[in-house]
Amino acid sequence: MVSTDNSTPRAGARTPLIAGNWKMNLDHLQAIAFVQKLAWSLKDAGHNFADVEAAIFPPFTDLRSVQTLISADKLPLVFGAQDLSAADSGAYTGEISGQFLAQLDCTYVIIGHSERRMMHAETDEVVAAKVVAALRHGLAPVICVGETAADLKEFGPSAVPVAQLRKALAGVTSASDIVVAYEPVWAIGSGQAATPEQAEAVCAALRAVLLEVLGADVAEKTRILYGGSVKSTNIGGFMKQPNVDGALVGGASLDLAEFASIIRFQKHAF
Ligand code: 13P
Repeated sequence: MVSTDNSTPRAGARTPLIAGNWKMNLDHLQAIAFVQKLAWSLKDAGHNFADVEAAIFPPFTDLRSVQTLISADKLPLVFGAQDLSAADSGAYTGEISGQFLAQLDCTYVIIGHSERRMMHAETDEVVAAKVVAALRHGLAPVICVGETAADLKEFGPSAVPVAQLRKALAGVTSASDIVVAYEPVWAIGSGQAATPEQAEAVCAALRAVLLEVLGADVAEKTRILYGGSVKSTNIGGFMKQPNVDGALVGGASLDLAEFASIIRFQKHAF
């Protein structure tokens, strides 16, 4: 999509992506009701899904219900999982294979969210292996990187996210469909979002890593999202930045009107 609006200087043909990470919220019955209402509300508002892609990331147990609903009603929403196993099958109690997610028509899978890095001890090596697993199964990884408040103080704004992305891409050799999400840990669930300028500086540094590791083509086409206390009232500032191509939304993605409004940022934020 090439914008004719001078206030949206995003380069080239990167379609903005607004992604809702539900985390451990909404069971499969609640998911069905939510997805139906979200799709209706966006349709009623005349949302053009080709202009802004809208994705949801429900818990594993919701995925089959969400898939069935989206496919039966031909809803223009896309969806993905919040994690996957680095392995494809075998004795991995509690793990979910990328093959299963691909069978459920998942487009995306979130990898390396800071909550998994911190609470489930996911290292950069595990994240890299999961990225390879996602690509092996035709899933687009949404690779999450971000610094803690302590990292920010010690290393500055982009050193940690840049190092995390470099390591996450260790096993990626060819131009593939990937998404990067910059989520400063200090901004997640805190109500204290990064400023658009802070987000832009780190996202530009992350795009430079993509350029260096995977080449100009991939760097140009890869969407880089900002995440951390995104709301309908601050999305516009982020989307004005040339290297921010969307948002990974947590809490606000569970509020139907608020999430729909974030998806429709072009209508009210400029
Ligand atoms: P919040 O939007 O609730 O800050 O969460 C961001 C996040 O972690 C999305 O993955």
